[in-house]
Amino acid sequence: MRFSMSLFSSIGKKLFMGLSGLMLSGFIVVHLLGNLALLNPDRDPFNKYAHFLTHGLGNAIYVAEFLLAAIFIIHIVYAVAVTWGNWMARPVGYAKVTNAGGTSRKSIASTTMIYGGVLIAIFTVMHLYHFKFGEVIMYTTKDGQQIRDLYAVVYQFFGNIWNTVFYIVVMLILGFHLSHGVWSAFQSLGLNGRRFTPFIQGFGYVFAVIMGVGFIGLPFYIYFLTGGAQ
Ligand code: HEM
Repeated sequence: MRFSMSLFSSIGKKLFMGLSGLMLSGFIVVHLLGNLALLNPDRDPFNKYAHFLTHGLGNAIYVAEFLLAAIFIIHIVYAVAVTWGNWMARPVGYAKVTNAGGTSRKSIASTTMIYGGVLIAIFTVMHLYHFKFGEVIMYTTKDGQQIRDLYAVVYQFFGNIWNTVFYIVVMLILGFHLSHGVWSAFQSLGLNGRRFTPFIQGFGYVFAVIMGVGFIGLPFYIYFLTGGAQ
């Protein structure tokens, strides 16, 4: 089979969607861990971390950002291709979402992946606009460095109840998306079977809850416990 054909064969599509999804899951783990510095009342650690990412890695950061953008795009392209294929194979929607048993794991999460994915993609564009390319406030750290006060930008943003509610809703959708996406990705990579499927399914749920709660916790903490705008 030609390489270009196998890229868009039904197995190829699921494989690429699964692999790119797992890479994005890896990114959000690192992103959440870095963002936990926002819980520190001292703004220096978070700002220094963000400064290191943008200024301390030389050209490697451009390579990393290019790869990240490419993985996002691959995930979206393949998600659309897989969903389109499913719709073509079964143009009439399911009257009722039920698990058919055996290897079928149909659920509301599994049948709404494309909608959650579209919302997360729109969110990501708005997110980059607000934070990465948003307002630049400079300040001086305790040891005299002049760097961007991204901490203040994030706190000002979550000082607004509507921004906070918007993020909490999207993070719930992200958790829901991951609750099916992660274990389904492992399954597409061939990690399934009688003993393995319940394990990866459990892992997927736990992962989704940790990511959902972690990302919801940040705006929640900033708005409800500090009032934001520090
Ligand atoms: C409460 C939740 C979140 C907060 C507070 C947050 C905060 C931030 C901040 C402050 C930046 C700018 C970093 C910089 O320019 O150095 C950023 C970048 C970014 N965020 Fe988030 N984020 C959150 C959730 C998410 C989620 C759920 C996703 C993915 C779906 C995401 C994807 C990204 C991406 C792709 C970047 C750009 C990374 C780069 O190019 O370096 N973020 N985020």
